[in-house]
Parts: sequence; structure tokens; C-alpha cells
Amino acid sequence: MTSSDIVWPRHTERLTLRPATAPDIARMLTYRNDPEVIRWLIKTTVDPEVFTQKWLEAADDPYDHSCVAFAGDVQVGSGMLEVIDGMAQGDAPEGTRVEGMLGYILDPAHAGHGYATEMSRNLLSLAFDDLGLRRVTAGCFADNHASRRILEKLGMRLEQYGVQDSWHAEVGWIDGCTYAILREEWLALREGQ
Ligand SMILES: CC(C)(COP(=O)(O)OP(=O)(O)OC[C@H]1O[C@@H](n2cnc3c(N)ncnc32)[C@H](O)[C@@H]1OP(=O)(O)O)[C@@H](O)C(=O)NCCC(=O)NCCS
Repeated sequence: MTSSDIVWPRHTERLTLRPATAPDIARMLTYRNDPEVIRWLIKTTVDPEVFTQKWLEAADDPYDHSCVAFAGDVQVGSGMLEVIDGMAQGDAPEGTRVEGMLGYILDPAHAGHGYATEMSRNLLSLAFDDLGLRRVTAGCFADNHASRRILEKLGMRLEQYGVQDSWHAEVGWIDGCTYAILREEWLALREGQ
């Protein structure tokens, strides 16, 4: 399946996921620029115009499968799944060179209900079952325990604990984590369910 075959909206038990449209952006910007959210992100405050353009263009970008999540009519957060180049010398088998990079942001008003895990699990399914990617990674500050818990619940493996590898605008160089999961691990997890 190619990225243009992805069918939106996608549904989880409680959420509807779909690409962002213009009316979604104001709400997204509000929680994206909340200091409690910024605290945990690599990119701090975002320029509203750049943010809007990136999200609206994502809908037509075959390498960007980012989405907004709704519980009923209420926007609760957004998820990012970008297809990026993996490390590869010239002779990597066709289609295996790229990998997925996962991210998520919940509106703090709707955090604590398992929504980020539910949305991210669906994005992993998109990555592996729909796009057939080989590997998906995700990174976070080591002190972001909620994010690390999500990645663990998803069955992702801690592959790198980087000592003071991440710059934080308020506290300086701090530790960061990279998690990953392979397609065969995802399939085995699903089979074991
Ligand atoms: C991190 C974030 C996505 C969590 O969203 P959420 O919808 O509350 O996540 P979920 O409910 O699916 O799962 C969170 C898990 O972390 C746990 N958790 C929350 N805070 C925690 C903490 N301080 N320490 C340890 N575990 C914590 C929860 O109990 C839950 O685990 P459980 O299901 O085993 O109880 C949300 O708070 C957020 O958007 N934060 C700011 C942006 C961000 O950090 N994005 C990720 C950048 S890498």
C-alpha cells in the first residue's frame, strides 16, 4: 500500500483521527504553545503561520501522516508520524531505507485518559500495517515519564539513553531517550493479543 491509499478518518475505540483542516488549527496552537506542553518538546514556541502551513500541507505530503484526534466532537490532541530516511548505505533493499518517527501531544485538558496511547497505537498500525514500514522510532526527554510510559505501553524498546544529549531551553543539557520497534515485533505483539 502507498501513502496515498491511506484512508482517513481512522477510528480507535474512543477516538477519530484525521489530517488537520483550517478550523482545527486555533485549538491546536493553544495547547501546542501551553508552557506545560512546550516544556517537553524540542521545538519550543511555534510561529502560528509556519505551524498552520506545515499542518495544512501535511494532508498532501506522502511522507507526513500527522493527524488530529477527536473524542466525539472534541479535539483532544494531535499525533505525528513522519517517514524519514534511516541510516543506510547505497544497497539497502528497495523500500526498507525509510523509517517512521512517532510523536504526540495531548491538550492538557484531556490528558490522563489513555488517549495518547490509543492514538499512537493506531499510528503504529498505520506505519506497519498500512505503509509496511520496517521500523518506527520516538524520542523524548528522559524526565518525560508520561511519554516514556506511553512508548513502553506500545511495546517500544529503549534503544538509547543519551546522557546530556538534549538541550532544554530552561535547564540546559539534559538526558534524552530514543525508543524503537520493528515491524516483526509489532506483528508478534498483535499476534500475542
Ligand atoms: C505525554 C502526554 C502525551 C501524555 O498524554 P496522555 O493522554 O495523558 O497519555 P496516556 O494516558 O495515554 O498514558 C500516559 C501514561 O503515563 C503515566 N504517567 C503520567 N504521568 C506520569 C509521571 N509523571 N510519571 C510516571 N508515569 C506517568 C500515566 O499513568 C499513563 O500510564 P498508565 O496507563 O500505565 O497509567 C501528554 O501529557 C502531553 O502531550 N505532554 C506534553 C507533550 C509531550 O510530552 N509530548 C511527547 C513529547 S516526546
